[in-house]
Amino acid sequence: MITENLPDDLSLPALLLDLDAFDQNCKMIAEKANGKTIRIASKSIRSVPVLKRIFESNEVFKGLMCYSPYEAIFLAEQGFDDILLGYPCWDPEALAQIAALNGAGKQITCMVDSMEQIRHLNKISEKVNGLIFVCIDVDMSTTFGSLHFGVRRSPLKTENDVIRLAMVIKDSPNLKFLGVMGYEAQIAGVGDRLPSQQVKNHVVTMLKKKSIHTIKRRRERIVRALEKEGLKPVLVNGGGTGSLNTTSKEECVTELTAGSGFYSPLLFDYYRDFHFKPALFFALQVVRKPASNIYTCLGGGYIASGPHGKDKVPQPVYPPGGKLLSFEGAGEVQTPVYYERETLEIGDPIIFRAAKAGEICERFDEILCVDQQQVVDRYLTYRGEGKCFL
Ligand SMILES: Cc1ncc(COP(=O)(O)O)c(C=O)c1O
Repeated sequence: MITENLPDDLSLPALLLDLDAFDQNCKMIAEKANGKTIRIASKSIRSVPVLKRIFESNEVFKGLMCYSPYEAIFLAEQGFDDILLGYPCWDPEALAQIAALNGAGKQITCMVDSMEQIRHLNKISEKVNGLIFVCIDVDMSTTFGSLHFGVRRSPLKTENDVIRLAMVIKDSPNLKFLGVMGYEAQIAGVGDRLPSQQVKNHVVTMLKKKSIHTIKRRRERIVRALEKEGLKPVLVNGGGTGSLNTTSKEECVTELTAGSGFYSPLLFDYYRDFHFKPALFFALQVVRKPASNIYTCLGGGYIASGPHGKDKVPQPVYPPGGKLLSFEGAGEVQTPVYYERETLEIGDPIIFRAAKAGEICERFDEILCVDQQQVVDRYLTYRGEGKCFL
């Protein structure tokens, strides 16, 4: 783990990748494939060299799931192919470029969950005499009484909902139906081993168990119905890091998605059935000591997205025992850290982990790759390539 003996001359703040931990994560994730391929969720990586390192690690990694159309275009230009946009997009200029790239031999697939999107895609694709591959997003959320367990994405839940759209895609001359995606966020993105939250953990575990069963049946029904209509999907995508163990067991799923597990940020410490290695860190520099036991670092306020809460705040991990101050937290330009025992000097580094995986890359131009406490390589982030998607 990246802890001691960072080179003295490092320019801080710096983003650090522990290559040994990262490579172990690649291996552990690959081992969960259960005969399927694993698509990489680029939002949780946000660095071209890191994506390449994952692909080189194992053949099981196949294809990318992007979050923005311009990101898909950028990655296609970098030589990547088989790119699935995980979310619908409307931007006519980007879609026209995608249709043209596909017409020239690339495979970039757009996500839809409504007739308006399908009509829009076909109109644009027709205009440039191109081709857009299309995937239908299926809602995988579950309900228990008045409780909605899952995320608000697609309105499509039943086989009839999906077939209605798939038929229209099939009859659209400049579109090609590829398959379906269903993201069970309530399994993949919800921790069930949260510290000091026994009751919540128990309820979430129970709800997850029930949901897994419903999801499996829903996906099977949809795939079977599509086959019956002569619309056999070549792609049935499911899951995320937090559901690799369960989604991989579904027979009708052809491919899994994973992203966060490669860096394994703080939020992924709290799952019952898997443990990846913390691999991505950032180092801040102590620049002043406002009181005894308090060491204030420059930078640090890299708060993760999602419902606001303490769990979205980065945490100091080395030297161990550091605590953020409740009144200041991780600040916009400086972050005080309290240590009961540690004696740090001005200029010393404090190592942190972020709550989520990819977002932290938006704060840094490069990732310093560390092996045996030495910086052995530097990987550009999207930001370092001058790119900002969304
Ligand atoms: C459609 C979709 N699939 C998969 C994932 C899983 O990504 P990760 O493995 O980074 O949690 C996400 C994350 O939000 C997603 O939106």
